[in-house]
Amino acid sequence: MMASRHIFGTLQRRAFSASARQASKVAVLGGAGGIGQPLSLLMKLNPRVSELAVYDIKGAAGVAADIGHINTKSVVTGYQNDEKELDACLKGSEIVLIPAGVPRKPGMTRDDLFNTNASIVRDLAKAIAESAPDANILVISNPVNSTVPIVAEILKSKGIYNPKRLFGVTTLDVVRASRFISQHKSTDPADENITVIGGHSGATIVPLLSQSGYSLEGKDLDDYVYRVQFGGDEVVKAKDGAGSATLSMAMAGARFAESLLKAAQGQKGVVEPTFVDSPLYKDQGIDFFASRVELGPSGVEKIHDVGKITPKEQELLDVCLKDLKGNIAKGVKFVKENP
Ligand code: NAI
Repeated sequence: MMASRHIFGTLQRRAFSASARQASKVAVLGGAGGIGQPLSLLMKLNPRVSELAVYDIKGAAGVAADIGHINTKSVVTGYQNDEKELDACLKGSEIVLIPAGVPRKPGMTRDDLFNTNASIVRDLAKAIAESAPDANILVISNPVNSTVPIVAEILKSKGIYNPKRLFGVTTLDVVRASRFISQHKSTDPADENITVIGGHSGATIVPLLSQSGYSLEGKDLDDYVYRVQFGGDEVVKAKDGAGSATLSMAMAGARFAESLLKAAQGQKGVVEPTFVDSPLYKDQGIDFFASRVELGPSGVEKIHDVGKITPKEQELLDVCLKDLKGNIAKGVKFVKENP
């Protein structure tokens, strides 16, 4: 009895000292926005986070003061609209989440956001290159299919591009795909984990239902695929001009950050679909692609193949690849023309 209590105590101390060693600073750029606020809140609730840095061009101090009263251990600091502030926010960050930028209004596609968000993301990428060159960068700002290549081009131009540390956050598509099939099949959504590949907008979002053993047919399948691809529009329409998904996106962003933290802190077998610099379709001139990615202490550990898919899923993938190529090229061209 004594011996087992002693061992338990030792294990507890080891677990404690391991987590104490693994202190992680997380920065949220655009932290006072619709996504940024709940995302910062969820990061404050995450015991793996030791320091939370909230940056925005306005409102960050208020968000940080508010969240900072929550009785978890992490220290929260707000940083506002200034190069020096951004530098201090980024310094030492292990994870940088970027939900900065404008969201959609009814009738807009994610690509319609390009003109505004491209330069916001470009400028933030330059600051990251300067102040947190080793951080994992998690891009949420849309259009993700183009903003991720923009970040890559900026980091390349600074000579510090590490493809293993750059992620487009497509987790919301996985969350929706899992929720929607559970509604259709009356299953517990917690048990569903539908793989979604491709990119993060309309036809580039390709759910692979067959890999989870489902075989919807005809209209059922078409309706399901449409809902996953255009689920964001349901929210944009319901919010009626007040923005796009913020709360579900915050949950999805926090889930992805948590997966990276788990993997960084030594957990094996952490796999999330995410939009990364990928070898899968490089021969077709497509440098970024979302597929299941195993995460590790160095970021991307292993990029999984698409795997076995049905002829219908292949059709969706063919359309996706065509769109994706254009979206990626648009991001690359933007940086060439507006370095
Ligand atoms: P929002 O307008 O509520 O918040 C954006 C925040 O960014 C604002 O607080 C604004 O002050 C800040 N901001 C603007 N320029 C900045 C800069 N240069 N530096 C720092 N902060 C800056 O928008 P919301 O709803 O939070 O959406 C943010 C982005 O996330 C949009 O581009 C939206 O399309 C995208 N999004 C992505 C999803 C995904 O699945 N990846 C899902 C939903 C939205």
